[in-house]
Amino acid sequence: MSLRLGDVAPDFTAETTQGTIKFHEWLGNSWGVLFSHPADFTPVCTTELGSMSKLKPEFDKRNVKILAISADPLESHLKWIGDINETQNTSVNYPLIADPEFKVANLYGMVHPAIDKFTVRSVFVIGPDKKIKLMITYPASTGRNFDEILRVVDSLQLTANYSVATPANWKHGEDVIITAAVKDEDIPGKFPKGHKRIKPYLRTTPQPNL
Ligand code: BEZ
Repeated sequence: MSLRLGDVAPDFTAETTQGTIKFHEWLGNSWGVLFSHPADFTPVCTTELGSMSKLKPEFDKRNVKILAISADPLESHLKWIGDINETQNTSVNYPLIADPEFKVANLYGMVHPAIDKFTVRSVFVIGPDKKIKLMITYPASTGRNFDEILRVVDSLQLTANYSVATPANWKHGEDVIITAAVKDEDIPGKFPKGHKRIKPYLRTTPQPNL
């Protein structure tokens, strides 16, 4: 059965470039980003792994662990990481799962039936409760925008703690939407920085956790 938002992210044990990982245990109380790649030694994936490596400090700040997966053996991954470091001017600083038998890829539905040899470019964001908070799938020809994943993490972490939602194209620091569950009369107590009532269903407030 395919995974849906809110499902518990399937647990697994896998060999990675940083040793064996038991996924749930490895996540501990952190958030997680699990992202899949079609294959080693492919150009788009090479840029993606490099890009994620440079963004890792931003994920660290948000208590998010990152984990990549590609359906090739460990030996191949280790050689490929050498290329990534060289060509992307970085040092890959997070684990890459070796999944030559597609065990993890199948658990997460990362293998598309129409592209049976390849795992597609899937991204899963997983909360500290081990539940799936976001799933996005890109075609093989489109490299991912990992700044967008960071933006979603900011939104998820904010909305996990406050009765707010984030509007279109929201970025950290911008005004947010007060959820419908909050009554008008309760807003000043909950959001002391002020609010705007644009419509009865559209009420905004400065980002509450700044
Ligand atoms: C790539 O990463 O460049 C790629 C991988 C599989 C199919 C197409 C492109």
